[in-house]
Amino acid sequence: MKKDVLILGIESTCDETSAALLKGGRELVTNVIYSQIEEHKKYHGVVPELASRAHAAKIAGVIAQALGDSPLDYVAFASGPGLPGGLVVGRVAAETLATLKQVPMIGVNHLEGHLFACDFEGNEVKNRLQFPLIALVVSGGHTELWYVKGYGAYKVLGRTRDDAAGEAFDKVAKLLGLPYPGGPQVSKQALAGRRDAINFPRPLMPGTWEFSFSGIKTAVSYYLRDHKQFDIADVCASFEQAMVDTLTTKTLDAAVRYKVKHIAVGGGVAANTLLRERMQTLAAQRGIETHFVDRKLSSDNAAMIALAAYKKLEYAERTGQTIKANVNIDPNMKVKNWGK
Ligand code: KG4
Ligand code: ZN
Repeated sequence: MKKDVLILGIESTCDETSAALLKGGRELVTNVIYSQIEEHKKYHGVVPELASRAHAAKIAGVIAQALGDSPLDYVAFASGPGLPGGLVVGRVAAETLATLKQVPMIGVNHLEGHLFACDFEGNEVKNRLQFPLIALVVSGGHTELWYVKGYGAYKVLGRTRDDAAGEAFDKVAKLLGLPYPGGPQVSKQALAGRRDAINFPRPLMPGTWEFSFSGIKTAVSYYLRDHKQFDIADVCASFEQAMVDTLTTKTLDAAVRYKVKHIAVGGGVAANTLLRERMQTLAAQRGIETHFVDRKLSSDNAAMIALAAYKKLEYAERTGQTIKANVNIDPNMKVKNWGK
């Protein structure tokens, strides 16, 4: 791989349409993000059909801004997991660009992107992650705990059985009449509340590494039903504490069980201040170092997709593998062409 290899990343799995240009696996040249929050706000959550339409409407402009007149060596795109409509838009855009520019295309896993986003420090890649580690990927669509030995060596220990952590924040915000996305709103209200005011459950699911957050959300809805008068700050603070206790306990238990000295936390909920502080403090007490993604790159973005693609190329080079980076063009496709 050449030293200043240029990778254009494309992200369109959920409600951000994004494209980013990464140089030499170390320098983020551009990271253009179109957030669809305004489209989804009035529904208090992501509406898949609206998301697909917004991706289709914005992706060309986002790519044009990210790439400008730069040359290009690879096109990377998030191939999943994600909403089907968004995945199709991202793939078609990547395929079209790769075909026109005559460069290979690389599909990468969106959650792997969230993990490697922790390697960025500002616009530079500082390779902060040290292996083996326990990774917590915690967002609006996912809550997963992984044991990571190194690039490409992941063991998924557990996932959520129902709501993702960010989804629970969003649903509780909706119950309280707070705007979408709910995480930052709940956190803001919580600052003025008492964290021990209400004892919401901590679903630790002993004997598994899985999560389940729908019970906490239901407990909040029962509390609101049973209390005509309530203090919104107390509800937010107690709910946030229950969420953070659950996430930190399970992640730290996994780190101790797998004898690792490093924890990485990525995804939209990684922006949560209480989670950042509690995880750092509790991990440090056990001699474990925590690497949180920079808040700027915690939500979905294409910089993390471009970096995950770079790591994939680097790994392939190190292990003598070839990446199947082909574009799907059917040479026998029957078409009509009325041009000259
Ligand atoms: O990573 P992301 O952009 O989307 C997915 O890939 O799913 O994460 C968005 C989620 C939303 O559910 C939002 O409420 C949550 O992250 N979030 C937060 C905070 N900031 C964003 N949750 C708790 N505290 C925050 N400060
Ligand atoms: Zn995500």
